Amino acid sequence: MTENQARPEVTLHIVSSLDGFIAREDNSVSWLEDSSGVYEAGVSIAEEEIAAFVKGVDCYVMGSRTYEHALELGWPYGDTPCLVLTRRRLQPARPSVEFHSGDVKAFLDTEVAPRFRNVWIVGGAILSQSFLGRGLVDEVRLTIAPVLLGSGLRFVGNLVNEQRLDLQNVRAYRNGFVDLHYSARG
Ligand SMILES: NC(=O)c1ccc[n+]([C@@H]2O[C@H](COP(=O)([O-])OP(=O)(O)OC[C@H]3O[C@@H](n4cnc5c(N)ncnc54)[C@H](OP(=O)(O)O)[C@@H]3O)[C@@H](O)[C@H]2O)c1
Repeated sequence: MTENQARPEVTLHIVSSLDGFIAREDNSVSWLEDSSGVYEAGVSIAEEEIAAFVKGVDCYVMGSRTYEHALELGWPYGDTPCLVLTRRRLQPARPSVEFHSGDVKAFLDTEVAPRFRNVWIVGGAILSQSFLGRGLVDEVRLTIAPVLLGSGLRFVGNLVNEQRLDLQNVRAYRNGFVDLHYSARG
């Protein structure tokens, strides 16, 4: 990133169970699909709203395990550029996918900042922890699913430093999922 270059806006988005897990121990995330609950006071989200929202994302950043799992489940990122972190030599399964490795701050400065403004980190736990741990996340959007999994992969396992966030918005949906939107302080 050059001195005159604007820093990208980095948002971390994750869906977690109420007890803080983002995948079951066997890696499955089928609990994400259960929308059978009905919370009468909740809002429904229109397709157009989702489309407009997704259009505002310039690129997704993810760890290689999330990438491989997303391919298995049915790619949800369309043609938006996806920057996947891996130390392996993988072949991109789609034209919008590229691979990078190394220090996450250097990656943001040299690979992301010159090309993208609105950057979404979409997991998994390892990658989320690296970006949070280095203080590289501006916004956290945590969606809480109405389920207790009991065990699995923790969203944030071991962060070294305490971090304070400011709540920006809360949105509860008719299916019982709740979005919590925070901005990082400082
Ligand atoms: N609930 C949700 O919202 C949500 C969201 C995303 C993912 N998930 C789930 O979470 C699980 C995957 O999460 P995870 O924590 O196990 O893995 P992950 O964070 O997706 O990927 C970790 C891998 O990325 C690579 N990597 C990370 N940092 C790197 C760096 N700086 N340079 C180079 N490579 C780097 C390494 O892989 P290599 O071995 O390739 O080097 C590392 O093992 C899946 O089950 C997925 O479905 C859930």
